[in-house]
Amino acid sequence: MSDTGATGSTMSTGAPALSDRNSLTIGPDGPIVLHDVHFLEQMAHFNREKVPERQPHAKGSGAFGVLEITEDVSAYTKAALFQPGAKTDMLARFSTVAGEQGSPDTWRDVRGFSLKFYTSEGNYDLVGNNTPVFFVRDPMKFPHFIRSQKRLADSGLRDNHMQWDFWSNNPETAHQVTYLMGERGLPRTWRHMNGYGSHTYMWINANGEKVWVKYHFHTRQGMAFFDNAEASAMSGADADFHRRDLFEAIARGEHPSWKLSVQVMPYAEAKAYRINPFDLTKTWSHKDYPLIPVGTMTLNRNPENFFAQIEQAAFSPGNTVPGIGLSPDKMLLGRAFAYNDAQRNRIGTNFHQLPVNQPKVAVNTYMFDGQMAYAHSGAAPTYATNSAGRPWADETGPIADSWEADGEMVRSAYTLHEEDDDFTQPGILVREVFDDGQRAALVDQVSGSLLGGVRSPVLERAIGYWKSIDADVGARIEQKVRAGRGDKPAEGMGEG
Ligand code: HEM
Repeated sequence: MSDTGATGSTMSTGAPALSDRNSLTIGPDGPIVLHDVHFLEQMAHFNREKVPERQPHAKGSGAFGVLEITEDVSAYTKAALFQPGAKTDMLARFSTVAGEQGSPDTWRDVRGFSLKFYTSEGNYDLVGNNTPVFFVRDPMKFPHFIRSQKRLADSGLRDNHMQWDFWSNNPETAHQVTYLMGERGLPRTWRHMNGYGSHTYMWINANGEKVWVKYHFHTRQGMAFFDNAEASAMSGADADFHRRDLFEAIARGEHPSWKLSVQVMPYAEAKAYRINPFDLTKTWSHKDYPLIPVGTMTLNRNPENFFAQIEQAAFSPGNTVPGIGLSPDKMLLGRAFAYNDAQRNRIGTNFHQLPVNQPKVAVNTYMFDGQMAYAHSGAAPTYATNSAGRPWADETGPIADSWEADGEMVRSAYTLHEEDDDFTQPGILVREVFDDGQRAALVDQVSGSLLGGVRSPVLERAIGYWKSIDADVGARIEQKVRAGRGDKPAEGMGEG
């Protein structure tokens, strides 16, 4: 046994590795020889041991757990994971949106809330956030939005001007920006935040009847937040604070849990509902569609290996199971393509074969080979249809999770419903949900952010945006911005 206690490692072939400390040289001071295969393999593998980080949501972590269904929602969905008493193993990953790997967990941002359920009918993923809405409603805008939150092309710096330029040019962002500039932008820990599926999804019951649903995961730890000073101190003191908090809490046996509820809208009501129920920038009134309890999600097991189980985890809102469908939400339809494609690039063609992404049910796929293929089907036919009895899929005619669509092909915004506009719901959030203290903090946060390098005409447009959300809050923001810039009071700055 050596002084480190090692009994000897192997090479990747399983043959003994002769030394992990000394390369093979000609004499103690001589050159390294090319046939030191173990040394060369170590170097070459090291050069390849990073994979590209996720484009958005690069910084995060997660844990395994279980979803337990305590109520009966079988009238709405036949999905096995939501049947009374069902217990389903799962993985959760939480993240910031804009920061890169290594960026502080406590920068103001929306937080990702990704869930993978290893169900008895295949993997079901729900990839949401800690807010019930999103910034844009057409997926064409998504890459532009993300770039505006990331870094300037020349300096590589983050930039308030660029963020507000995008937001103020796209007023549908107002609802999510109000959440972001409020307390939700700085959750104290991941354990203390809610999660939302955000989109509208379809549920289908055993009789083939369809409803529209929205998912809500309410933290049983209670919501808690940092203020700006605490968050920025924590960014310096411990950039990995949220990652550490979750890992250490689970290691201590404190298993965080969330109560799952859904809002259910009868299928036929979508067409005439007062807002477009598929618009991701809107919430559904809880008076119209009250929360229906479903069950509890508990995280109880830390990853054994961060890279294998968190970095290589691949979530996609397109991964559904029988009894659950997508919806006409254009963002959701865009996402149904984006994630698997990102993962083919980020992890590799066969990312779905890795243990963390593998379903717990048997797989009979007609996708073969490619880099790092591991699972295989032996000599079975690689084509469908075949005469060898290998099963293939054969759905024809109307499909279980369909919806009606009609009309000419167009490039267009959604059809507006009676009460659709961009500012009503953020206005309600500011006036009726926030209290005086939260409104004051919002005014401080927005004016501070606008004073951080936002220039004309974006500044005036941003102030107009806030006046459209709420006249009083907008005026207070304008006043603070003027005071901060030493401007003289003037009429009409950013009338919105
Ligand atoms: C059209 C709109 C969107 C597109 C094209 C898009 C695309 C992406 C891509 C490419 C990734 C990286 C995936 C990976 O490398 O594994 C990602 C991650 C993520 N996105 Fe989106 N996204 C969109 C909208 C949204 C929305 C609306 C939400 C939440 C409601 C969301 C939540 C997330 C989360 C939580 C992650 C991290 C996934 C993880 O934990 O691995 N995204 N998105």
